[in-house]
Amino acid sequence: MIEPILPPYVVAADTCEEFLDGALFPEEEAIISRSVEKRRREFTTARVCARDALRMLGRPAAAILPGVRGEPLWPDGVTGSITHCAGYRGAVLGTRSEVAAIGIDAEQNEPLPNGVLAAIGLPQERRLIRDLLREHPSIRWDRMLFCAKESVYKSWFPLVNRWLGFEDALVDIDPLRGVFSAQLLVTGPRVNGQRLDVFTGRWLVKDGLILTAIVIPAATVKR
Ligand SMILES: CC(C)(COP(=O)(O)OP(=O)(O)OC[C@H]1O[C@@H](n2cnc3c(N)ncnc32)[C@H](O)[C@@H]1OP(=O)(O)O)[C@@H](O)C(=O)NCCC(=O)NCCS
Repeated sequence: MIEPILPPYVVAADTCEEFLDGALFPEEEAIISRSVEKRRREFTTARVCARDALRMLGRPAAAILPGVRGEPLWPDGVTGSITHCAGYRGAVLGTRSEVAAIGIDAEQNEPLPNGVLAAIGLPQERRLIRDLLREHPSIRWDRMLFCAKESVYKSWFPLVNRWLGFEDALVDIDPLRGVFSAQLLVTGPRVNGQRLDVFTGRWLVKDGLILTAIVIPAATVKR
């Protein structure tokens, strides 16, 4: 489902189903064994997706464990991103020779709970969302903003290993071309020898879901 918003040099595996039986490596099972059923399900199915994607890259199956801040730890030479929400689980992967970082996010196309937009949106973003909701009411642009910011964080984190707050990036969403940008309001990471101050991504609304994806290419990739 997420493939249309990805470049050709990454691979994606996603599903609306659940794959649970015998799907985890023992070290993954150890991490999730005390979690509630919902968490076990999303963690497990996302790992099945991640291993499908590894296979597409020609890599052997491997355990995907969380790092200290929850980031997925990929096998050497691989980078990627995981997302799960009600009705969707997905993983997008690339090789480090072609991809510097990936951030994907999926959300239901539903309004954010009361108060969340005020908490995550800068004044300029809130004005944008108000206008977009008026002009294109079938899409929940408040949720899209959240989704875009989550994918910014997921692609930022492996580059710098640091927290990035919702107030640290100013997101602009193009409602017609299916793209968004995030201007970092803190010092951007160095990627391919250059400072990266704007992350750009693509979005898609399909089957009641909002999907966002940021793929930051490595210098060597043929685009
Ligand atoms: C970590 C976070 C982004 C996860 O997003 P979410 O919408 O809650 O959940 P999703 O299902 O989409 O994604 C969960 C996956 O994110 C990945 N993830 C978690 N922490 C991560 C990190 N620090 N870096 C990259 N990926 C991370 C994991 O793979 C996780 O799945 P898993 O635990 O099964 O491996 C979110 O909970 C969070 O902490 N956000 C605050 C930071 C932020 O978004 N800042 C905005 C900057 S503009």
